[in-house]
Amino acid sequence: MAVHHNKTEDDITAEVLERFSQTPDPRLRQIMLGLVKHLHAFVKEVELTEAEWFQAIEILTEAGRMCSDKRQEFILFSDTLGVSMVVDLINHRKPDGATESTVFGPFHRLGAPEMPAGGNIAHLDKSGTPTLVSGRVLDLDGAPIQGALLDVWQTQSSGLYDSQDESLGGALHMRGRFYTDAEGRYSIRTALPVHYPIPSDGPVGRMLRATGRHPWRPAHIHFVVSADGYEPVTTHIFDRRDEYLGSDAVFAVKDSLICDFVRHEPPGGKPHYTAEFDFRLKPATELKATVLDAQQRLAALGARAAE
Ligand code: BEZ
Ligand code: FE
Repeated sequence: MAVHHNKTEDDITAEVLERFSQTPDPRLRQIMLGLVKHLHAFVKEVELTEAEWFQAIEILTEAGRMCSDKRQEFILFSDTLGVSMVVDLINHRKPDGATESTVFGPFHRLGAPEMPAGGNIAHLDKSGTPTLVSGRVLDLDGAPIQGALLDVWQTQSSGLYDSQDESLGGALHMRGRFYTDAEGRYSIRTALPVHYPIPSDGPVGRMLRATGRHPWRPAHIHFVVSADGYEPVTTHIFDRRDEYLGSDAVFAVKDSLICDFVRHEPPGGKPHYTAEFDFRLKPATELKATVLDAQQRLAALGARAAE
């Protein structure tokens, strides 16, 4: 009599792979086969218990429930697991000399006001130290790019983004859009950026605490710099003196983005800081969807969730 073999977990993996191997779109086929292969390997490697499987379902459900036009818990998971930075690196390999990119994060808002050179994005911030950030937008040969757009956002000196600060009642603050002049120059008045914790009142915060990690991001200012004919760059500049540069909760620090914020104490005047940073854009090669395109879709999703 033939011996009966019980079905194994590898039999299941093979069967699932076989089923997805019929996917007509080649890219979707590649993604689904890779996903099943690695997801099954992960579950087998850690020998996931049923209780842990159910806990994962609860975590994902809670993350979904937390999402709105003001909160994106799934992006926070992607960021704190380092996935956002890996995706960013794969998609934005830069030649040496071009400004490196970093995470977009969940706090960009559409509709920031256009401001003249020297415009103050921190007009409602009474406790921050005034700071002037200036520099140029250049091409890879060092030639100035006129009319480049810098979309800028930052936390208030309280460490909160405008969307997290209920006292603002939904108003935009610490955000602006600036254009470069004929010499490629920009200048932005703001408040000195501070380090701040990422939102940790949800499942991402529980993951950080359970794994002995802190939620802090080193002080930074966000930029998306774009110009016709060039690849836009989504990036930050970081304050060199910050104690969290070596342990950013979302792994977004790159050496080339660290900048000197210089303190000035004029006799009889108020202390202030200046920082200078030049952005260098590489020519556009192909039309790629940008994070701002994704942001438009997310905004639409959040608006629907808030209805
Ligand atoms: C931010 O810098 O705004 C940010 C990035 C990733 C996660 C949370 C916040
Ligand atoms: Fe930030």
